[in-house]
Amino acid sequence: MSLENTEIPDMKSIWNGKGGQVWVENQKLLDGMFKPFEDCLVKAVLDSGKVNILDIGCGAGATSLATSWVLGETGKVTGVDVSKALIQAAKERTTIGESSTQFICSDAQSYRFEEAVYDMVISRFGVMFFDDPVAAFKNFHSAATTDAQLHVYAWRSPTENPFMTAAQKAAAPYMQGLPKPEPNAPGQFGFANADYVREILTKAGWKGVEIEPIDLECSLAARELEKYNTNLGVLGMIYDQLDNETREEVRSKVQSAFQSFVKGDRAEFVAACWKITACAN
Ligand SMILES: C[S@@+](CC[C@H](N)C(=O)[O-])C[C@H]1O[C@@H](n2cnc3c(N)ncnc32)[C@H](O)[C@@H]1O
Repeated sequence: MSLENTEIPDMKSIWNGKGGQVWVENQKLLDGMFKPFEDCLVKAVLDSGKVNILDIGCGAGATSLATSWVLGETGKVTGVDVSKALIQAAKERTTIGESSTQFICSDAQSYRFEEAVYDMVISRFGVMFFDDPVAAFKNFHSAATTDAQLHVYAWRSPTENPFMTAAQKAAAPYMQGLPKPEPNAPGQFGFANADYVREILTKAGWKGVEIEPIDLECSLAARELEKYNTNLGVLGMIYDQLDNETREEVRSKVQSAFQSFVKGDRAEFVAACWKITACAN
């Protein structure tokens, strides 16, 4: 079957469509997989002594709630996300008691945050999707206090992240019509180029920008691999559109491609990312 005329929707539509929906459905799996990054963010917040936290692209709220939990009554955490479904999921999880956490459903690039309020801006993989990243980081800068810190994580290149690209590679012969993303285009790997990221943050007014590679070991249950591969990423976007025969071929090719990551009952991989930090002044 041809994917010649398949258009990849813009980021906001993706996150308010299938992209957001699959993140809600796979919330436990994804939160488990990316827990090492949650731990790093929580530690960074605790070490900083900051208490009024803005979590960008907070998704279903894992990092906002974990931060809120450790800060206790002294803290205030605001999670912002463009996806209605993910913010709904985050709000539903909040009833457990983190009353100091609030969630806002909006485009973080243009949302009018209260000015000079947040003393720390954090994100786990939520900052690579803006159509105007300089405007977005300027917006966070205006929302930040003069002594605020920024601490966010983003993916390095696809070649450094074979786990993240294995499904798409294995299914490539069936996905030939799909448009190729431009370099630095919004998306999972939109911040892979550190020079580009440094330029964005500097233009947006952030100082002391540091971009360090960080490799964290992540894992998921091996029995969840198929669900993960066929629901998420570019393959997940088009998997349901494939006819039955092609879908079966793709499923089996993708499954074999992941065997090298399986260790016993877990699938293990290294997430090759950037730790991006900066100060407001
Ligand atoms: C890869 S997910 C990460 C979610 C969450 N930080 C986590 O670690 O579970 C990226 C998130 O960024 C959000 N996002 C994308 N564009 C956005 C925008 N313009 N404004 C706010 N959130 C956005 C998506 O809706 C999605 O929840």
